[in-house]
Amino acid sequence: MILMHDIVRDGDPVLRQVAKPLTFPLSDEDKKFANEMMQYLIDSQDPKIAQKHQLRAGVGLAAPQVGRSIQMAALLVPDDKGNILFKDIFVNPKILSESVRKACLAEGEGCLSVDKDIEGYVPRPDKLKIRYYTIDGEEKTIRLKDYPAIVASHEIDHLNGHLFYDRINKENPFTLAEDTIVIS
Ligand code: CO
Repeated sequence: MILMHDIVRDGDPVLRQVAKPLTFPLSDEDKKFANEMMQYLIDSQDPKIAQKHQLRAGVGLAAPQVGRSIQMAALLVPDDKGNILFKDIFVNPKILSESVRKACLAEGEGCLSVDKDIEGYVPRPDKLKIRYYTIDGEEKTIRLKDYPAIVASHEIDHLNGHLFYDRINKENPFTLAEDTIVIS
């Protein structure tokens, strides 16, 4: 089971590395690791289990955040009623295209690897077309928009060595392009 003490925090160089692509078939060890990342998200979104194990709630977790510099990330994105908007594990994801129009979360972003609150809008493409592989090696091409697209962008950023605050405008953290969608 992945616990908070397994999560690498900002300042560790692994978070700034470009993660290595994986080759198929994945090893049993890598599949197990992928499923453990997803299980962390499931547990962290269950108030009782999260409380018991002191898990901070997350909607995405990338392998470098658990100290492994490989191209793998789990996503479990619920809406505000608890319905699942997106759930899968990305292996070797690639953004094929993105909208010019940006979106951001009204409350900014957080990250399991960043302990302090960093205020400011985090503009990202509102729409993404992504190709990735499942842990069984099935190729998928998907289109995401709004909140799930933001989560996917955040996780793919991790695989490229970027953290959410890199995208905050340093001088004017709450200034946005006119047509940016603010999601609340
Ligand atoms: Co993060």
